[in-house]
Order: sequence, then C-alpha cells, then structure tokens
Amino acid sequence: MNVRILKDEQAVARAVAARVIKTLTARPATVLGLPTGRTPVALYARLVAAHAAGRVDFSQASTFNLDEFLGLPGDHPASYRAFMETHLFGHVNLSPRRIHFLNGAARDPVAECARYEAAIRRAGGIDLLLLGIGTNGHIGFNEPAAGLVADSHPARLAAGTRRSNAELFDGRVQAVPRRALSMGVGTILRSRAIVLVATGAGKADVIKATVEGLVTTRVPASLLQLHGAVDLVVDEAAAAGLRRR
Ligand code: F6R
Repeated sequence: MNVRILKDEQAVARAVAARVIKTLTARPATVLGLPTGRTPVALYARLVAAHAAGRVDFSQASTFNLDEFLGLPGDHPASYRAFMETHLFGHVNLSPRRIHFLNGAARDPVAECARYEAAIRRAGGIDLLLLGIGTNGHIGFNEPAAGLVADSHPARLAAGTRRSNAELFDGRVQAVPRRALSMGVGTILRSRAIVLVATGAGKADVIKATVEGLVTTRVPASLLQLHGAVDLVVDEAAAAGLRRR
C-alpha cells in the first residue's frame, strides 16, 4: 500500500480531488466508484468548485456508489443517493444515465445486487474507486466477520455503524436501517486503482491495523494489502499510529 500522509483534512481533500481531476482529464470516460460519509464531503466540495471553474468535466464519466440503506428509496432524504445529489451529483455535469446506485427499495435485494454487478461489468469495471473506512475497519458495508461476501450483497450493519449514521436520521439511531446493500470485497478488489481516504484521530487505530496488521476479515480494509494499486491518503492525525512515517 502506498501511504501518503498530509497535514490535515483539507490537504487530503485537495490531493484526492487532484487525483480525480487528473484521471478524468487523461480519460474522460473513467468509471469512478464513490463513497458517502463525512470523509469525502471536503473532497466533493473541491470537485464541485473545480467543475464550476471549468477545471473538470464529468460528461463522459460513469459512477457507481459503494452502498445504500436497504428499504430506502433513492429520493428519501436520508438515503446515500440523496447525500450524493446534495454533495456532488446536483452540481456537476454527470450524465444521469451514467450515475449508478444500488436501489435500496428494490423488491428483490439479491437480484438488485446481481443487476449492479452486471452493470459494473458492462461498464468495463471500476477504474478508480474512492473508499472511506469505518473505525471498525469496514469498507463499503463489509463489516468485520469470520468471512466476507465477495460480490455485492445485502449486509447487516454493525451497531457502531448505525450509530455513526444517526446524523442522517436527525440523530435517531433507531431510525437507521439495520441492513444495507453493498459492493462486496471482491467488487472492491476488482477495481483497477483504489484510493482509501481517512482523516482524524478517531481513525488512527484502524489505519494502523489496515496498513501494518495481518490480512484478516476481522479488519476488512486489511484485504486492501492484497491489491497492487492502493493509495492510502491520510492526515497526520489518522497516521499517528503508523510505525514508519
Ligand atoms: C459509505 C461507506 C462507508 C464509509 C465509512 C466511513 O458509503 O461505504 O464505508 O466510508 O463508514 O465513514 P465516515 O467517512 O463518515 O467516517
């Protein structure tokens, strides 16, 4: 894993935005994989500003988001789809037909996941996948477990994951769905290049385990050690536990 340590959250957002812009400039039809959460908010703000300034064109790009709450339609205000509209999609020139999302309201969640995998394959696979990481090591909604599912699948959320998503539901943890649809670790590892982004002291322990620990399904992000093209971009606070700095 190629580790890049930058001063703070803004420096991380600047570096990752520059990577996305460079990738889209070199290959306008890039297939992007995208996360939601607190971490990418500053990054998306930079991409929106760069687009407004004419520095990046999304017109040929495709996107696949990592996950969505099960039971929520995309127009629900707490859905990840709504989050993406607010922070990115509503402000850049992505073609709506090239924006892909797991449909949390699908009647058959397993079939919906199969549809998503097929759509990723039809698009030629994900060129650049951006990832956040949970404090328990989850990537997408692949929570620590004795075994992990390779492909997109319905997933059960850990209690801590539901707590950290409560903000989207006016602080009501009970309102956070217990299940979600998520890309699997195989979907993630099939991406040609991956950028894992983490900021803040709360991520220091899990970043250490991800980079320096054993490869284990108990820390799903540690599986990224098996991929040849992963850049970890972290701020100093999230890098605090790393041995080699
Ligand atoms: C969200 C996702 C999650 C988040 C992770 C970190 O689409 O896939 O794995 O990336 O929970 O969330 P934040 O950035 O809020 O700390």
